[in-house]
Amino acid sequence: MLPTNSYLQFTPDLKICRILNGMWQVSGGHGRIDPKAAIQTMFKYIDAGFTTWDLADHYGPAEDLIGEFRRQVIATRGQAALANIQAFTKWVPRPGKMTKKIVEDSIDISLRRMDVESLDLMQFHWWEYQDKNYLDALKYMAELQTEGKIKHLALTNFDTENLQIIVEAGIKIVSNQVQFSLVDRRPEVNMIQFCQQHDIKLLTYGTVCGGLLSEKYLGKPEPRGLSLTTVSLKKYKNMVDAWGGWLLLQELLSTLKSIADKHKVSIPNVAVRYILDKPAVGGVIVGARLGISEHLADNAKVFNFNLDAEDLKKIDAVSEKSRDLYELIGDCGDEYRR
Ligand SMILES: NC(=O)c1ccc[n+]([C@@H]2O[C@H](COP(=O)([O-])OP(=O)(O)OC[C@H]3O[C@@H](n4cnc5c(N)ncnc54)[C@H](OP(=O)(O)O)[C@@H]3O)[C@@H](O)[C@H]2O)c1
Repeated sequence: MLPTNSYLQFTPDLKICRILNGMWQVSGGHGRIDPKAAIQTMFKYIDAGFTTWDLADHYGPAEDLIGEFRRQVIATRGQAALANIQAFTKWVPRPGKMTKKIVEDSIDISLRRMDVESLDLMQFHWWEYQDKNYLDALKYMAELQTEGKIKHLALTNFDTENLQIIVEAGIKIVSNQVQFSLVDRRPEVNMIQFCQQHDIKLLTYGTVCGGLLSEKYLGKPEPRGLSLTTVSLKKYKNMVDAWGGWLLLQELLSTLKSIADKHKVSIPNVAVRYILDKPAVGGVIVGARLGISEHLADNAKVFNFNLDAEDLKKIDAVSEKSRDLYELIGDCGDEYRR
């Protein structure tokens, strides 16, 4: 089990684990997932205290796995055991005119697949800011929230400007899910401050860069092509290249290793702890290749140590040598809109 500081009262009704289990990794491109083994492994996660899942309508079978997992939890442990599990999905529609029916039909599909009466959190993504239909979509989602189909509204990959438009339209947003790591520190430019002012939490992904921020890559030659074995590694290797390249990553890794050794933890532990301690950050999502690989015992150590001022100084000194990704790419989520 995890210590109490591993959990956050995210909303009045939802207490979440501050390391969320990311289910993009079951969607293909990260190794073949066996559904039975995946569900067995999901029990291991909740028994270890990792009770919160991040998924999406388009993450292959992720919503169905949650549905089947919930049924198996009821069958083996009783209905009450479900109270300790949170499942946060997303809706990623094609831009265009939004009607109540379009929105409700999509929400109903997620409800059915996940086998829930109400979605804990609906994290909405939108591809095209010029198309302001996103405000209609959110307005209808707010109606569905009042009707009980959604508990809380959230966003993913929205930039600060459009987040502000949504907040000013009177829509209550509890979180925005963005890329945030020691490589990609763009949320520090504008997003964090806005979120703090409006009581919005950040849920972060890419925080261990698909595994690049781990001992596995320390002192290793630059991986290319087929040696980047998951789409996640490919995604964050591109980010590392834009940020400063393999040599600078090695400098970051050896700095993180010296800090990790000092605290008797791992490189990913330091990378996650650093982001968890940033203002507005509610939780860090760590991708889970269910039934293929697992880092539960290691990731649990994140909650047993603290970084000191000297650690932060060393890390920030490496960050200062990198390129400015905000200038290069733009605000949070802009990489999806170029
Ligand atoms: N909203 C969005 O647009 C968006 C985009 C991307 C991701 N996400 C969410 O964020 C989740 C995280 O995905 P991500 O792609 O960003 O991946 P990630 O969390 O940066 O990387 C996950 C990988 O890191 C490795 N890892 C994790 N803990 C480790 C440890 N303690 N020691 C060594 N290696 C460790 C594992 O690699 P191995 O399996 O190889 O051991 C794991 O598969 C996704 O599942 C999804 O829920 C959202």
